Amino acid sequence: MKGKADILIGAQWGDEGKGKVMDVMGADVDVFVRYQGVANTGHTVILDGKKIVFKLLPSGMIYPGKLCVLGNGVVIDPEQFLTEVEELHNMGQDRARLAVSLNAHVVMPYHKILDHAQEAFRGKGRMLGTTGRGIGPCYLDKYARSSIRVEDLLDEARLREAVSSVLEEKNRILTKLYGEKPMPLDEVYEPAREWGKALAPYVENTTDLLYESLEKGKHILLEGAQGTLLDIDHGTYPYVTSSSTTASGGFSGTGLPVACLDRVIAVVKGYTTRVGEGPMPTEDKGEAGEHLRNKGGEFASVTGRPRRCGWLDMVALRYSMRINWCCSIALMKLDALSGLDEIKVCVAYNLNGIISERFSSSSSTLADCRPVFESLPGWHEDISSCTTFESLPEGAQNYVRYIEDRVCVPVKLVSVGPAKHQTINRGL
Ligand code: IMP
Repeated sequence: MKGKADILIGAQWGDEGKGKVMDVMGADVDVFVRYQGVANTGHTVILDGKKIVFKLLPSGMIYPGKLCVLGNGVVIDPEQFLTEVEELHNMGQDRARLAVSLNAHVVMPYHKILDHAQEAFRGKGRMLGTTGRGIGPCYLDKYARSSIRVEDLLDEARLREAVSSVLEEKNRILTKLYGEKPMPLDEVYEPAREWGKALAPYVENTTDLLYESLEKGKHILLEGAQGTLLDIDHGTYPYVTSSSTTASGGFSGTGLPVACLDRVIAVVKGYTTRVGEGPMPTEDKGEAGEHLRNKGGEFASVTGRPRRCGWLDMVALRYSMRINWCCSIALMKLDALSGLDEIKVCVAYNLNGIISERFSSSSSTLADCRPVFESLPGWHEDISSCTTFESLPEGAQNYVRYIEDRVCVPVKLVSVGPAKHQTINRGL
């Protein structure tokens, strides 16, 4: 095996700025791969001053000649896929080769209806705050072994049979449990058949394709979506997404051998944000949270929801570093912290009077944890045009060093603005 793979993961609750880091690293990468999630995500890349949000396609799509792969671990929303492909084509940016795994699962129209119906059924107080894109119901079918996979879309007879058998069950659930209308077979089958035709040129055995890339000595970048604290196993369950967002998901979600792993890079926002429900010990509902939301533009790129904002949580961050075994950090949105007199950092939790530096992925325990803060001096200078670490104000330099010391992982990239050039690369 001559090639190698790096994995880029979000170390918090998603929206850390992974799209920009992938863009910065992109020139040295041969193959871009997404391995989990998909239509619930949003990776933002700025190209020629224009903002492109990739919800589904790998961010390498803008690079000529690169291979971009949607692995077996993702769930594909064909309509979204085809819209993004067309949009890129219209912008003249569809320059990469795109491959979709035969084994990836398809988000069907009933998954989206069920996602909304299940949230409504949970009712206020028990809602998860999902993106409503059908992600949970699709993964549920995957594990129940009743899902439609991309390969099924390519065979009309098999597809019709699969859809009619699944619909029998779904229609009972929709009508009897949720009081929704039943979905006629043709309303589901006909568009799915069309999707099959449109997707066919992209469908491949991506496990073989990726292994062949390794054999050819290629550099593969696995693009994690969402963040570690939203992982189905290691996140703040049940307020999580339905896939493996951590580095280990990169292997089950692609079929790549673990031995090809070179680096795990953590993307960390200089503060914390969260979308949807669930505990967030450092959330600040006052002025500081408002400052971060406005300066950081913290509104979800897919749903437009305002993100909950708060201070950096070192307890959670150390947990993420351990779960993913990260070797370097890309620290994002440092510029959003400019203008604050003091910057707080959560260094431990107070749980019923006991001080602990351990993170808890139990949502009920985490909800009872009160943050123990340390305070650092802030800075007021605009740092968005700083190009070297030394040119950052003293407060910003100290903040970066403080993070490195606390988590024992070097910060190899500091982002000071949304554009690619607003980046201080310290050897990533
Ligand atoms: P789902 O993935 O749509 O089922 O949503 C489950 C939880 O994950 C919700 O709290 C969502 O807000 C959150 N979530 C899903 N995708 C993202 C993302 O890209 N960024 C941040 N949060 C996300």
